[in-house]
Amino acid sequence: MLRPLTATDLPAATRLLGIASPYYRAGDVAAEKLFGAAPNSDGPSTIGVDVDGELAGIASIDGNRIRVLAVAPTYRERGIGAQLLAWCEHAARTHGHPRIWALGQAGNYLAPGIDAQDQATIGWLRRRHWRESSDIRTNLIVAVHDNPLVTPARAHDLSVEASTRGYEIRRARPDETRLLAAIGAEFGGAWPFEVERALQWRDGELTGAVHVAVRGDDYCAFAAHNGNNSGLGWFGPAGTWPAHRGQRLGEAVLLACLLDVARQQATCEIAWIGPEPFYQKSCGIIGRRMFVPMKREFTAEES
Ligand SMILES: CC(C)(COP(=O)(O)OP(=O)(O)OC[C@H]1O[C@@H](n2cnc3c(N)ncnc32)[C@H](O)[C@@H]1OP(=O)(O)O)[C@@H](O)C(=O)NCCC(=O)NCCS
Repeated sequence: MLRPLTATDLPAATRLLGIASPYYRAGDVAAEKLFGAAPNSDGPSTIGVDVDGELAGIASIDGNRIRVLAVAPTYRERGIGAQLLAWCEHAARTHGHPRIWALGQAGNYLAPGIDAQDQATIGWLRRRHWRESSDIRTNLIVAVHDNPLVTPARAHDLSVEASTRGYEIRRARPDETRLLAAIGAEFGGAWPFEVERALQWRDGELTGAVHVAVRGDDYCAFAAHNGNNSGLGWFGPAGTWPAHRGQRLGEAVLLACLLDVARQQATCEIAWIGPEPFYQKSCGIIGRRMFVPMKREFTAEES
């Protein structure tokens, strides 16, 4: 029986997502994925399936993006997953979308796509007329402990180097809304949303997970972590304004973020990356995760 889930289902949903898949830490970000906001959102719809009074399956969709879909291991191979998938497809069609995607909702994504190692889920979707898209996405894994490139001394040196050129490297304040407008004007997309979330992040004494390079009144570079998948220490987004590139400002704000992440994690996941050589040089790479965007195009009869 499909039914809408509410906040009172969160403990059971968190348990289910915690054991659903070894490829994602969905249980650690359950509230964010099931009920959290996203930019340009239809608003998430979250449903569950109960069997014998127990939550057996769960799905959350926002617009044309499935945020999570999982069936508890003991309830698999009974058609529950197919029922949840059909409901998600119907919801996307009802909102007028011509296609539906798995994961990868900009601003609120469990992962940028299906983990390429998860061939079981990829095959399951393929048998249901879903197809891979060619733009494979990558997350980089960076060591933030025992890494000679990620040390307070190196962050300090980069900050001093920036100051000799008239820049200040500092943590952004939670109320720094002018920063969001500046990021929106230059970079757009979901980035202001993610940065706003990161600004609200708290870790003990630290408030805000965004570092900036400024000169006078101008923002010149920024980097954020914990804006998406809050609590997992994922890094991103980050950007340097074009006029200020090539001066190691991006490296300075990256290092500041990685040192924050090191307070809670031994590694940092640089999510949905752009330029890999920049990260190789700035902080080293110890691993990579590849993600496959998958979608289903609705036929004319279905739409
Ligand atoms: C992928 C997933 C959702 C499938 O859930 P499920 O409930 O087992 O899905 P279904 O039962 O609909 O389909 C599974 C298989 O069982 C078969 N099946 C369906 N009803 C059946 C029944 N009554 N008896 C036997 N087999 C049945 C289906 O035909 C299907 O086989 P096929 O793919 O070869 O056609 C589940 O494996 C899962 O939760 N995986 C992790 C998902 C994940 O990573 N999510 C992101 C993180 S939360």
